[in-house]
Amino acid sequence: MAFVNANYLKLKAGYLFPEIARRVNQFLQSHPDVPLIRLGIGDVTEPLPAACRQAMIQAVEEMGDRATFKGYGPEQGYPWLREKIAAHDFQARGCDIDASEIFISDGSKCDTGNILDIFGDGNRIAVTDPVYPVYVDTNVMAGHTGEANERGEYAGLVYLPLTAENHFTATLPSEPVDLIYLCFPNNPTGAVATREHLQAWVDYARAHNAIIFFDAAYEAFITDPAIPHSIYEIPGARECAIEFRSFSKNAGFTGTRCAFTVVPKGLKGQTPSGEAVELWSLWQRRQSTKFNGVSYIVQRGAEAVYSEAGQAQVRELVAFYMENARLIREKLTQAGFAVYGGVNAPYVWLKTPQGTGSWDFFDKLLHTCYVVGTPGAGFGAAGEGYLRLSAFNSRENVVEAMNRVVAAFG
Ligand code: MLT
Repeated sequence: MAFVNANYLKLKAGYLFPEIARRVNQFLQSHPDVPLIRLGIGDVTEPLPAACRQAMIQAVEEMGDRATFKGYGPEQGYPWLREKIAAHDFQARGCDIDASEIFISDGSKCDTGNILDIFGDGNRIAVTDPVYPVYVDTNVMAGHTGEANERGEYAGLVYLPLTAENHFTATLPSEPVDLIYLCFPNNPTGAVATREHLQAWVDYARAHNAIIFFDAAYEAFITDPAIPHSIYEIPGARECAIEFRSFSKNAGFTGTRCAFTVVPKGLKGQTPSGEAVELWSLWQRRQSTKFNGVSYIVQRGAEAVYSEAGQAQVRELVAFYMENARLIREKLTQAGFAVYGGVNAPYVWLKTPQGTGSWDFFDKLLHTCYVVGTPGAGFGAAGEGYLRLSAFNSRENVVEAMNRVVAAFG
């Protein structure tokens, strides 16, 4: 019999969102007619920007003509898309990032998991708690952890609690670590990191020769002009950070799939014998072996995000969801909840009523309001006593969901 990757057996039950879907479906089986509103998984609801659709339609036509048909594209992505990203998302913000350092992919979820392919086994790894579960689960799968304890914490990981006291931005570890996962604007708490906070992380990483994995999938939702959108706005970050970005949330590409990862040239890790190796070359090698690139059609759609019309449409989409976030915050506050996030991020993090755990409150919300949230405990032990609501939904659904919450708890 073939051997399996026994690390998978260490994983807790299911991946968080399918587990929530399972519970919701179970509820729907016994309550088939309830008008359910899903503010759980952060999946967008509003249509793709017109500029993206038009670009993709035109690309489909090109694929139908022998003269303009495209087969395999460059594994790293088409240069015209990488150049627009480098110019608009980085150089325009003063970041020293070149198009050759950008790798187009089909998602940040995949990239934040796949990046472990180019790192070895002996690293000390820090994650925040609560945390986007992909960072933890992929390390478990890769055999970088021991078993989970009764709190769900895996042996071998360094957990950095995000709490109301530290404004949901992690305190630097007291012990040296080699890999650090940071996500700002934060999923799930909706918190953002100031320039000073990020500078402290960059200084730490450089002092300890550590690498920061910076997940900036929600950067488009930052409304405060003082908050950095990219880790590369911080001096020294080129020497210690890999950044993940996505078109999923700003341009509604969750079902269309396009994202990118930035690996600066000159960023290095080491072999067991202490020889320095460039990470860009390893990631390039990994991608060209295991990935054949994002479809031409989708990359044309992503490119249109950077057109004048695309920019205006994306701004409108982001503003739409942020108005939802504002409404959620307002109504939850009115209902007496302590709320965090939702100002520079599409997630609102609410404190559950005294004595009600995350999963109990999830059930209560489901059964009394027919509203689906995400239990904070699903993101880690320190998320216990919180619940996340996503602002990704129609205005009508958000208003209705909040009216139900105010009626039930206000
Ligand atoms: C979430 O709800 O946290 C997101 O949908 C996760 C993701 O983008 O994969």
